[in-house]
Amino acid sequence: MPNTNPLSSGFGLETTDVDISRRVDDDAFAELERAFFRGQVLVLRGQSPTPAQYIAFARRFGPPEPHVIDQYHHPEEPNILILSNRRRDGQPIGLADAGSYFHTDYSYLQVPARATMLYSLEVPKVGGDTLFADQYSAYDGLTEAMKKRIEALVAIHHYGNRKVADEMSRTAASPLTDEQKAKMPLITHPIVRPHPVTGRKALYAVSGSSYGIVGMPGDEALALLDELAAHATQAKYVHSYPYAVGDIVIWDNASLLHSATLTDPDDPRTLWRITIKEPSTKLDALEVLAPKFASHTM
Ligand SMILES: [Fe+2]
Repeated sequence: MPNTNPLSSGFGLETTDVDISRRVDDDAFAELERAFFRGQVLVLRGQSPTPAQYIAFARRFGPPEPHVIDQYHHPEEPNILILSNRRRDGQPIGLADAGSYFHTDYSYLQVPARATMLYSLEVPKVGGDTLFADQYSAYDGLTEAMKKRIEALVAIHHYGNRKVADEMSRTAASPLTDEQKAKMPLITHPIVRPHPVTGRKALYAVSGSSYGIVGMPGDEALALLDELAAHATQAKYVHSYPYAVGDIVIWDNASLLHSATLTDPDDPRTLWRITIKEPSTKLDALEVLAPKFASHTM
């Protein structure tokens, strides 16, 4: 059985006992899955999978969902999104700046992401850490009055970062083409969202894609979301992960916010990302708000 140990930051777990290019038996995988939900961040050290081996392992956590940005899908495997600042023949080989603001993946979809995996192939000399903000602790750290105020509130989400109006900024979400935007309906999620597996309450996506609250005037909703985001991303809830080559980092999107850190465009960095969605059994309970809210700008 794979042994897991706390990461050096004290947050998250790591193991050196697994090689995903070989068969990981069911008992060992079950132990990894438990460690993933317990640790919120799980790091598998020393990996070198092929695209097919990587995706086969990822599928054991749930259904992969290709990113809406389809220009940088891996040529052999569309479920892998290439994150890279390298260029070949003058053209970028991957997405260079991905999510340099606190957010959680696919919160702009009805069925959001359960897990995101990053396989680290090239690490820059400086920077490139992922920051994780623990949203279980952030919820626990709210005042009782705030817990009561937000208990039944439902936030409205769409693709993007509500704090950045200029979508070409390096800290904005990666810009979409008009065709990609047309695939993006407006979505709601509870602000206090019990974790779908552990049941523990967490603040959900109060930074990033949320830009309104159902039944609340816009200004009041933005002020509340900004107050929650400032609370949820305080240094005491944030843990930094510095990648090594060969790491596969898997994080729990239901209990974490994360942020990439910007790196020098000339300092090579390459990761392969796979995003795993939650099982879609609760789809009927989620609400799609169509044109009613479509007039806002972001
Ligand atoms: Fe992300």
